[in-house]
Amino acid sequence: MSYPYQINSFDEYQSAWKKSVEDPAGFWGDIAQHFQWKKPWETVLEWNFKDPSIKWFSGAQLNITENCIDRHLADKANQPAIIWEPNDPKEHHRMLTYAQLHLKVNQFAHVLKNNGVKKGDRVCIYMGMIPELAIAVLGCARAGAVHSVVFGGFSAQSIADRLQDAQAEFVITCDGAFRGAKDIPLKNVIDDALISCPFVKRVIVYTHTRSAVSMIKGRDVWWEDEVRKVETAGNPDFPAEVMEAEDPLFILYTSGSTGKPKGVVHSCGGYMVYTNYTFINVFQYKSQEVHFCTADIGWITGHSYILYGPLSAGATTLIFEGIPTYPDAGRFWDIVDKFKVNILYTAPTAIRSLMAFGLGHLQNKDLSSLRVLGTVGEPINEEAWHWYDEHIGKKRCPIVDTWWQTETGGVLISNMAGITPSKPSYATLPMPGVQPILVDEKGDEILENNVTGNLCIKTPWPATIRTTYGDHERCRTNYFATYENLYFTGDGAFRDENGYYRITGRVDDVLNVSGHRIGTAEVENAINMHAGVVESAVVGYPHDVKGQGIYAYVIYNGTHGDEAMVRKDITATVSRIIGPIAKPDKIQLVPGLPKTRSGKIMRRILRKIAEGEIENLGDTSTLLDPLVVEEIKKGRI
Ligand code: WT7
Repeated sequence: MSYPYQINSFDEYQSAWKKSVEDPAGFWGDIAQHFQWKKPWETVLEWNFKDPSIKWFSGAQLNITENCIDRHLADKANQPAIIWEPNDPKEHHRMLTYAQLHLKVNQFAHVLKNNGVKKGDRVCIYMGMIPELAIAVLGCARAGAVHSVVFGGFSAQSIADRLQDAQAEFVITCDGAFRGAKDIPLKNVIDDALISCPFVKRVIVYTHTRSAVSMIKGRDVWWEDEVRKVETAGNPDFPAEVMEAEDPLFILYTSGSTGKPKGVVHSCGGYMVYTNYTFINVFQYKSQEVHFCTADIGWITGHSYILYGPLSAGATTLIFEGIPTYPDAGRFWDIVDKFKVNILYTAPTAIRSLMAFGLGHLQNKDLSSLRVLGTVGEPINEEAWHWYDEHIGKKRCPIVDTWWQTETGGVLISNMAGITPSKPSYATLPMPGVQPILVDEKGDEILENNVTGNLCIKTPWPATIRTTYGDHERCRTNYFATYENLYFTGDGAFRDENGYYRITGRVDDVLNVSGHRIGTAEVENAINMHAGVVESAVVGYPHDVKGQGIYAYVIYNGTHGDEAMVRKDITATVSRIIGPIAKPDKIQLVPGLPKTRSGKIMRRILRKIAEGEIENLGDTSTLLDPLVVEEIKKGRI
């Protein structure tokens, strides 16, 4: 299959962008015609950012799994849809052709139905990176259920919060997951979460690590038993549920500047069209190529560029269970060599961490199959960009620096591999259909180039966030109310003389730690749960490998143990409340926090101290107690 809407030159990019801005309905309507709809749309786009209300392909009906699987059966039945590489390289890899994926997704949709899942029900998926995770996600989509995948690094408390927020009555998990040398007991974590979620009716458990689990009668069932029942009943095909284009496809929780993560909702039609379009164009995907995105399916990158984008394009997508450094730091290169990977899409933090292990791990690895490299999740520093370019791409592979967010569903700003120019540390130019603008503090558009500003988007693209689950007002205030009639990204950006964008990082209280998004308020809430803690303030600081590290200032009045032990207790608390990904890198016990007379913590000062810039703290005259700053400076870690 060639893609009629694949852009082949810079000129074509420029005219596509122009058309998309002048006539969005015509532009996206033409692209959407290449998908399988059960009923065509009446209008391509209706929107206002005031409510906000964003509707793409209104009136159309579809099921995304027919576009991701069924429509490829005619010519790709025996092509691998999914290649799975296990954590342990000594174990066998698995391949699922499109025909096999079709069978398994249909069977699993039956399993869901047999267990009471109906269209619109929310299903929480908490699994490791195994093919069954993809099957669970697609099975939900086929049955019309709204999936909410929770990353395996979140704690029982975080799962419970998400289950309650989504009112999810169904959970799909596995006994455990392997990650490097670790065996993570996922089902046990679910059991802990369910203590406070009695409304969960059914837990479907897949056997992967074969570790001991408690299966509760009447609530928990084994995946394998349920599939066997479907096989015995002899009804493999599951008629795909008819979905409206604007029906929700999934919820994915993400952190913001408040203490509670938000359930970002994406809908079926627009998300499908946009992830497909950006996958094909950013990576310039060519039929038969192997695409390896190293993200976890628990994050948006995995949703859009391991599953929906590649599968809707009939690609071969690689799912890797493990981590880049297990059994050694050459693992990614082994995988590229073993499966002749053509496209590698990873995070700057992974590149930096592998860089630090040296070039030895690249020896005797054949990387000649690589054609395109990609990065995502955080700004890439020039050193890492050049290392990636020289040592992985051997200066033959374009690098796409893709900027986007959970809320944007797909890539908004990026070069297109080999088609539009690249510039180290720049995401460069917007996708067709995307109109970025920079605004100043007052919300006035900055028109010149060579300036920095707050990054906003003027009009909707098909995968725009539709709502935050259960609380539309929150969606409005978070993204559409800061600046009138604009979607506010929360990022700052610099625009150079050519109009290329370089993302400078978040301008709100959100941290980006190893590409994971963590709200400072969330970490503070978790720290404050610890019995001896009076108050805390969390800021980010530059970290060589993680991009940002977490620095916590804590007022502690407990009596239990020495400072080292108190730090460990606090760390354990954060791990328990949020999960190991949110553990502070540094904890400083302080006598007080720098506050203004109105009681506001001056984070700017704390940030500077964490960054090591203790000389030039700026204006401290509005502080209630300037002496506290001296104490904090003295105790800096
Ligand atoms: C935030 C979104 C999008 C998938 C992964 C993260 C930062 C993302 C880039 C990039 C600089 C980037 C932004 C953004 N970010 N990509 N190429 N260059 N920064 O998704 O968890 O929703 O986080 O990640 O700060 O707002 P997310």
